[in-house]
Amino acid sequence: MSIEDRYTWKHRHLLDVTHLDKDDVTHLLDLAASFQEINRRPVRKVPTLKGKTVVLFFAENSTRTRTSFDIAGKRLSADTYSLSVAGSSINKGETLKDTSLTLHAMGPDVIVIRHPSSGAAAYIADLLPCAVVNAGDGWHAHPTQALLDCFSLREAWENRFAGRTLLILGDISHSRVARSNVHLLHMLGVKVRLCSPRTLLPAGVESWPVEVFSDLGRAVADVDAVMCLRLQLERQQAGLLPDLTEYSKRFCLGTKHLDKARPKAVVLHPGPLNRGLEIADDVADSKASLVLDQVAAGVAIRMAVLYLLAVSPPPSFVRGKELVL
Ligand code: NCD
Repeated sequence: MSIEDRYTWKHRHLLDVTHLDKDDVTHLLDLAASFQEINRRPVRKVPTLKGKTVVLFFAENSTRTRTSFDIAGKRLSADTYSLSVAGSSINKGETLKDTSLTLHAMGPDVIVIRHPSSGAAAYIADLLPCAVVNAGDGWHAHPTQALLDCFSLREAWENRFAGRTLLILGDISHSRVARSNVHLLHMLGVKVRLCSPRTLLPAGVESWPVEVFSDLGRAVADVDAVMCLRLQLERQQAGLLPDLTEYSKRFCLGTKHLDKARPKAVVLHPGPLNRGLEIADDVADSKASLVLDQVAAGVAIRMAVLYLLAVSPPPSFVRGKELVL
């Protein structure tokens, strides 16, 4: 077997997709596909991470990300513990540093953190000797979301990213999902378009590898997928959007728009959905919608991430061979 036939995971943490190369991503997606197979078995549990401990530290609201990390850990037989702001000492004024050191003193192998401040995951990764996964930090990055989106797209697009076009629609400037997806999809050869009101475009977008549109009808023409984003009102300063009705008239994805996309175009949304604001009911519930496939993919991707980070020394694999568990 030549050296090229082997692949070794070399990352201590998963903080941002910008740290991954194409081989890492392909490998992660393949590994997640093996775990997806386990998720379809009648007994959805393997002993792979028995004896490992995963702490879920969520200082921001979450339904999908937190639950899927929890299920992912449990399917691999890791012990998982959850901490949120409500009911924790963060409400008594404890700093991020002290909460992280306290959690680490209990001996976890992996800490999964979601935090409203950009850079929070990298900050605790510098501080602690255990593995850290960024489950969303401010506007900055949401690597496992982008990976699960790629996983869902790879299935829908029958393994071909190159030459595909994807439109990201909505509140780009406050979205960590958009930032991580633009980077990852561009790396995989996808042409990325953005469509949003000018006030919701990020500063410096001119240097992003994207094409920017303000008219949804034109933006959606001939795309292979549309990713709708929620208006992240909790992160917005006042005055960016004078009128939500006007916003939904111009930027809510409806079937009349989707008709202009390629015939087999699919629709993604990281959730939570605000129906009628960024995505119409009939699109959200249509056959084109991958929203629930994304949720299922989230469990498989997070199993792959926990597996790669909790196993030490880092696992190496023979290329092209499926993981047998
Ligand atoms: C996203 C997030 O939290 O960044 N949701 C998610 O993780 N499924 C997007 C959002 O909150 O709109």
